[in-house]
Amino acid sequence: MSAPNIETIASLSKRRGFVFPASDIYGGLGSSWDYGPLGVELANNIKKSWWNWAVYERDDIEGLDSSIILNRSVWKYSGHETTFSDPLVDCRSCKSRLRQDKLDTDDAGKFICSNCGSTDLTEPRPFNLMFRTTIGAVSADDDPAALAYLRPETAQGIFINFKNVLDTSRRKLPFGIAQIGKAFRNEVTPGNFIFRTREFEQMEIEYFVRPDEVQKLHQEWLDAYLEWIKSLGISAENIKLYEQSAEELAHYSERTVDILYRYFPERSDEEKQWDELMGIANRTDYDLRVHSKKPEDADGKRINPDSTEDLSYFDPQTNERFYPYIIEPSIGVNRTLLAVMMDAYTEKTTEKGETRVILKLVPELAPIKAAVLPLAKNKPEIVEMAKRIKKDLQPSLRAVYDDTGGIGKLYARQDEIGTPFCVTVDHESLEDNAVTVRHRDSWEQERVSTDALKSYLAERL
Ligand code: GAP
Repeated sequence: MSAPNIETIASLSKRRGFVFPASDIYGGLGSSWDYGPLGVELANNIKKSWWNWAVYERDDIEGLDSSIILNRSVWKYSGHETTFSDPLVDCRSCKSRLRQDKLDTDDAGKFICSNCGSTDLTEPRPFNLMFRTTIGAVSADDDPAALAYLRPETAQGIFINFKNVLDTSRRKLPFGIAQIGKAFRNEVTPGNFIFRTREFEQMEIEYFVRPDEVQKLHQEWLDAYLEWIKSLGISAENIKLYEQSAEELAHYSERTVDILYRYFPERSDEEKQWDELMGIANRTDYDLRVHSKKPEDADGKRINPDSTEDLSYFDPQTNERFYPYIIEPSIGVNRTLLAVMMDAYTEKTTEKGETRVILKLVPELAPIKAAVLPLAKNKPEIVEMAKRIKKDLQPSLRAVYDDTGGIGKLYARQDEIGTPFCVTVDHESLEDNAVTVRHRDSWEQERVSTDALKSYLAERL
């Protein structure tokens, strides 16, 4: 089972402290979200899993953390200033502002307003998605010399550091650079909870390869990502691949395969249940070329007169110099978190006929690994023992102590936030130095001696 819709996860998130509407006490800020105590843990665990998998477990990836605000030239030569836009239309009937490429068409091929159904829409006009800002205390808002952007992707920070990383790490092709960081897009139609927002986080790899190896390695990355996504507990039946058509490809891409997740299982049309979790693009040698000082156009003019570096690669084995091709797997932290929560969501009926929610997160991702609960909070010896056990577990795994309700209620709360183990201290514990360990998914209980508890949990986490 997985969540019946995104709203179920949005409501659980607010109720239990995963994700809150941002700026809520001032009426909110359209499609902005804050990650609460459990959400920040879950997001950090996703990022940790990714970094371990991408950077530590492979031998060919280096990490990077580049700036959010870059020299404006980066966005000029990357093509974002001219092409990073969505086609905007206004509905003359209901005054909605819409993205034309997301609208359905009627039998006559006319675009239909998704808000009121009218086909009386304005002609599309391009709307650049980059957020603008100005640099310097004395700059005027409209001073083009002070204009800068918040990055709409982390990728460009990687391309412009290609030579720095290559020279300092003494890498040979193929190798990659990984980065996790915030990106900003002034989306025309954000929405669906954390699926599409104006501020979000990306985990991107730019993998530099010889042109003749690009197809094989593209496929290898695709296979590797499918495995990593499944390791997050996301079931195969809720993932599928989508090959972008020539019209859909970004200006830099020769081939892009998206991995889709079933974010909208409630939709009756199966085709409409899916949306993009991530994309894996073959960006060719476009990026390193456009940021290099040497390449020239057909008239012999430098395509980039502002760059001070050449980002070509010299292969000592073949004595060739060329611009590496780039394979780019790019995935959003927020969309991953949403897919992980949707897939982990389950409901179970108790013997009394009550419905309980269990978030069956893989233990690696669970915000809290163990909750230590005293069976009687008015018995000081039990409370003291439970707090001691929690403190003892805490350095090696995230544990909490909770005595704010009856045991049934405490179990239900931990099930709903995905805690794999509850450890209960009862009257007998004082005699036999053992505790009851309750398993989240099966609700089975086992008696475990306190001396063995740490290793018992470590083995199962
Ligand atoms: N560097 C390539 C790039 O940025 P993209 O397909 O535009 O490609 C990559 O974005 C990923 O970033 C998406 O697959 C998605 O997971 C995430 N993403 C993009 N826009 C987003 C938004 N407005 N809100 C949340 N996540 C977003």
